[in-house]
Amino acid sequence: MKIVKNLFLVSLLILFAMPLYGAKRLTLYCSPQIEWCELMVNEFEKRTGIRVKMTRKSSGETLAQIKAERTNPKGDVWWGGTGDPHLQAAEEGLTQAYTSPKMSELHDWAKAPHSATGGKTVGIYMGALGYGYNTDIFAKRGLPEPKCWHDLLHSAYRDEIQVANPNTSGTSYTTLATLVQLLGEEGGFSFLKNMHKNINQYTKSGSAPIKSAARGENAIGIVFIHDAVTQTVKGMPIKAVAPCEGTGYEIGSMSIIKGARNLDSAKKWVDFALTADVQSLAVKARAYQVPSNKGATVPPEAPDVSSIKLIDYDHGKYGSKAERTRLLAKWDREVKVLPR
Ligand code: F6P
Repeated sequence: MKIVKNLFLVSLLILFAMPLYGAKRLTLYCSPQIEWCELMVNEFEKRTGIRVKMTRKSSGETLAQIKAERTNPKGDVWWGGTGDPHLQAAEEGLTQAYTSPKMSELHDWAKAPHSATGGKTVGIYMGALGYGYNTDIFAKRGLPEPKCWHDLLHSAYRDEIQVANPNTSGTSYTTLATLVQLLGEEGGFSFLKNMHKNINQYTKSGSAPIKSAARGENAIGIVFIHDAVTQTVKGMPIKAVAPCEGTGYEIGSMSIIKGARNLDSAKKWVDFALTADVQSLAVKARAYQVPSNKGATVPPEAPDVSSIKLIDYDHGKYGSKAERTRLLAKWDREVKVLPR
């Protein structure tokens, strides 16, 4: 009787475990806005039947996690986030090469990281950096309307600006690298030190500053312009600004993690994420980055990057391990610790 009972329990166990073994899976590290991550996961599961386990973390945080897991990788694909840390991951051997059949459909700027890294990362979207401000707060307090980077140093904005921490956030690292490229290293750091007085918080995630500006918790948030547009489209009193001096931009990227346990699913995700009609779905999540597939629809609300003065952002240099590590350590040493 006991043997029959045990046999019955074992067969039950096998029955329940089988679908888990049989099912294809994917572990996704996602760095764009959570709404877009969720939309992509649902669509991928629907189209392929592959089950996705997704976590959203900022760009710098994700790089740190992949590094920490390098001897026992848990993730398969890192989708989105600014391109610089993806380039660093490639340089450090944390990601692996893959050439999707979709490559020929992409803009040149999206192919550039792929050829620069021997195929280890590829561009999925592009977005210009800037900031947004809460027009209600500005009107109520009679604040001067900013148009340039230098306007952010105005004493009227004391404690009114939020930006993320460049160690965790790709947005904020892009800000740091942009100011260094625009003003020279000394000028860039002196700008950041002066602006420090006006910063009320360095957040973990890059888009948090504009979300809190939309809620009226601070007047200005330094973010990618598309993240400010998302708030405006939601009906929030946010006005986006492309700084008059010129500004940097991101090539939002995607990489397959080295040692991915579900390599086949990972490649399927890459092909899926580079597909025109999949990229066109971003608007449903109010994501307004410029898509990398030439055939994808660019929503009318998306910032027109051709009308923004973009600097010749040196992704090779600022996405290198040496430069990124050096600049972040300098920011920690010279900016973050200053009294406010
Ligand atoms: O919110 C979307 C977005 O701005 C992406 O365009 C960008 O790649 C990502 O967030 C950066 O996030 P973080 O600054 O948190 O790393």
